[in-house]
Amino acid sequence: MSYKSEYERSLSSPEDFWLEAAQGIAWHSPPLKAYDPDSERWFADGTLNVCANAVDRHVDEGRGDRPALIYESPVSGVSESFTFAELQDHVARTAGMLRSAGVELGDRVIIYMPMIPQTAFAMLACARIGAIHSVVFGGFSAAELAKRIDDCQPRLVLTASCGLEGAKVIPYGPIVSDAIARSNHPPETTIMLQREQAQADLESHGFGDWHECLSAASAADCVSVPGDHPLYVLYTSGTTGKPKGVVRDSAGYCVALNWSMRNIYGIDQGDTFWAASDVGWVVGHSYIVYGPLIAGCATVLYEGKPIGTPDAGTFWRIIDQHKVRVLFTAPTAIRAIRGADPDGSLIASAHLETLDALFLAGERADPDTVRWIGEQLGKPVIDHWWQTELGWPALASCLGLDAPPAPVGSAGHPVPGFRFEVLDSEGKPMQSGQTGSLVIAKPLPPGAMIGLWQNMTGFDAYFSVFEDTYATGDAAMLDDDGSYVILGRTDDIINVAGHRLSTGAIEEAVADCPQVNECAVVGARDELKGQVPVVVFVSTTNNGAPDPSHIAQITRAIREGISPIASPKAVIEVPSLPKTRSGKILRNLLRALIDGDPFDTPQTIENPDVVAQLEEALAALRN
Ligand code: COA
Ligand code: AMP
Repeated sequence: MSYKSEYERSLSSPEDFWLEAAQGIAWHSPPLKAYDPDSERWFADGTLNVCANAVDRHVDEGRGDRPALIYESPVSGVSESFTFAELQDHVARTAGMLRSAGVELGDRVIIYMPMIPQTAFAMLACARIGAIHSVVFGGFSAAELAKRIDDCQPRLVLTASCGLEGAKVIPYGPIVSDAIARSNHPPETTIMLQREQAQADLESHGFGDWHECLSAASAADCVSVPGDHPLYVLYTSGTTGKPKGVVRDSAGYCVALNWSMRNIYGIDQGDTFWAASDVGWVVGHSYIVYGPLIAGCATVLYEGKPIGTPDAGTFWRIIDQHKVRVLFTAPTAIRAIRGADPDGSLIASAHLETLDALFLAGERADPDTVRWIGEQLGKPVIDHWWQTELGWPALASCLGLDAPPAPVGSAGHPVPGFRFEVLDSEGKPMQSGQTGSLVIAKPLPPGAMIGLWQNMTGFDAYFSVFEDTYATGDAAMLDDDGSYVILGRTDDIINVAGHRLSTGAIEEAVADCPQVNECAVVGARDELKGQVPVVVFVSTTNNGAPDPSHIAQITRAIREGISPIASPKAVIEVPSLPKTRSGKILRNLLRALIDGDPFDTPQTIENPDVVAQLEEALAALRN
């Protein structure tokens, strides 16, 4: 099978292509049809259970004693492995705990937990009983957690007493209690797992004890759900402060992930796959939990950082120890490793014979980093591109299909099932070499979102920028070899260390500070994290003398209102913001000024003096 023929077949005969792929998973009743154009759903007439595919199936087929979940936690000193049979036991009992808490088919369960095995048990347990999980990244603030509670109205919140962030212990009790207090739809029940690094006073919070609830519950079996039953809601940043709840189906996702493991990543049943990300992001959902397990692989759940826990050799030691065949991480992690081990001596001393390739995604992979790590590893380094909305890679060099490598700097060729175009602002296709908006033709393949939770308008908006075509929000350029170069977002979303953040949401947190009259937040270039927010604001006093206490207050508002991952690189007080005569903030101009890029002051600027004022403020900051 070649990449080219598979790609062409996926577009010319999608029914045959995807029904064939659907044979790779276990159904209660198999689908007769792949895509239903009326409902715009995949495999909706089939029934299955995703947890049965990820766990029970492997036990039933005699693979129960193979490793399934490998937990490596240098921050807690724990290294633990669960076979498929052990995973089944944990997940079935966790599912019983959910049932005892009153969770039923279709109910939402928020999981606000660190990178520990119980988080994966909880996700799979929801899938087991047809509950819809919504995992919230453990670094998000109480305010962000409350927004998600209010939007998906969970019956139950699952949490743990703390997260371990490098050397820091972050107690979750106060964050979860605060979020529940802020929310208009508090959950009926909250269950907390006590970790030894910080025990919470459960009674004062009114939380149930995980271990007690678990031991009182009996195991629950897998239920059968229709193919388009929602598996999860995963919130992602939009351009406003309100996060978008991407709804994922069960069957399309299961089929697509299973197909992707073999054909994109080139790995098979019994292999070990490691996505060094967090379960709070889509990468964690698709390639820490569901994808590898569905394909019968062992997956690594890593609680730690690429450097400092304890050093920049931790990735390579884990690959060696668990015979990892594919590592997937964000370019930021590689830049951090390079910073700490510039000669790659920790890489050279590791045994990496089992490693086939390194896949990168989540943000732009700068050519310098790609070349450096490629030389150090002596293995293919494959950039690939996707989004929370899509659920699995859409641009890649498919290793399992022997796809031609894409040039360094390009994010890869279209993955089977995805038909891309680059359009100009009027929706006309652009030639190769020209920059425009990256779009994908309908129907999106299985695994892509089936909606936004309680937000039809938001969902339709993806398909209304260009008629009946999915607008990715990224700018791109088609290369002569048919691969695509991603050039960044066309909207106000930024990528900080591979984390997608909304400048609109950060602006809302800043604007809530009493000292702030108006503000703009842009993503500034950063050597390590790709982009980092920079705040430019006008104070209410605006007396021309910047006040350092404002900066501390604004920084705190962002860290506490959104997350410490959104901490600004700089907070700059200015007498006025650059605006057009119609009042629109000139963010491109701000970005160019901050990054030190060449720029033309637009003719439409209302207050040309502001450019000199900003340059002065930036010069003061650099000194
Ligand atoms: N819970 C609580 N706080 C968290 C957190 C979490 N889960 N994750 C990060 N934070 C905090 C950090 O402690 C830090 O706080 P500080 O400002 O008080 O020091 C802040 O958020 C920023 O964290 P981070 O972005 O991780 O920066 P860092 O300087 O601590 O580490 C890197 C730098 C490059 C090592 C780190 O960003 C990294 O591992 N990047 C890879 C990201 C990745 O894998 N993304 C996956 C997307 S596919
Ligand atoms: P998320 O939904 O959090 O996965 O973020 C998706 C966004 O991250 C995309 O729209 C891109 O802007 C960016 N992104 C993801 N992968 C890549 C990549 N390989 N190269 C450049 N940008 C990427």
